[in-house]
Amino acid sequence: MDGNGRWAKRRFLPRKAGHREGVKTMRATVDECFALKIPYVTVYAFSTENRNRPTEEVNALFALMEEYFNEFLADMLQKNVRVVTMGDLSYFPQSLRTIIEEAKQKSKACSGGTLNIALNYGARNEILRAVNKAVQEGKAVDEERFARLLYTVDMPDPDLIVRTGGESRLSNFMLYQSAYSELFFVKTLWPAFGKKQLYEVLHEYAARDRRFGKVKS
Ligand code: IPE
Ligand code: MG
Repeated sequence: MDGNGRWAKRRFLPRKAGHREGVKTMRATVDECFALKIPYVTVYAFSTENRNRPTEEVNALFALMEEYFNEFLADMLQKNVRVVTMGDLSYFPQSLRTIIEEAKQKSKACSGGTLNIALNYGARNEILRAVNKAVQEGKAVDEERFARLLYTVDMPDPDLIVRTGGESRLSNFMLYQSAYSELFFVKTLWPAFGKKQLYEVLHEYAARDRRFGKVKS
């Protein structure tokens, strides 16, 4: 979800106004994905690198999460969606952590889809964490075992990854899991991303030829 700041700047608004609009886009997009019966949806909400932004912006992001999380959770529960997170939550203020943990707890048994929120997430950190766990276990791991040591545990690898905002890079997102993901880089700034853009991406995805390194049968 990239481009909130630029979206705001173009309107002579503070960056946090872009983030607020971005939350609305996130909710609408997530709703649409689950309405389409996409079983797993991940949103990259806050990266380990985002911590290096000015304190004022980081605090504005925390405040937004606190403001919207409960309402958002009620919405997910109503849709029977399980909420999980990936990333180190210990970084967040206690009040926010409590809300997030409660969301995970309350939605644990939901079976209509999984929403995975990347919070203080970085793929290199995730891989190192998994390696250290494997070292502690003291025996060699195969792909299946290693995948279970990642934050994504029981989730399948992403079929499709879309980044808005015009940059063509993964920026430390699911580096291990994305080996065969279809990547989409769209120019639209995140707050302006709507149903039309989502459907364009899904249509193009449906037309792509996924061979997973094999030849076409
Ligand atoms: C993404 O938008 C939002 C977060 C990562 C929290 P940006 O804040 O990166 O927006 P730009 O890239 O400055 O436009
Ligand atoms: Mg950005």
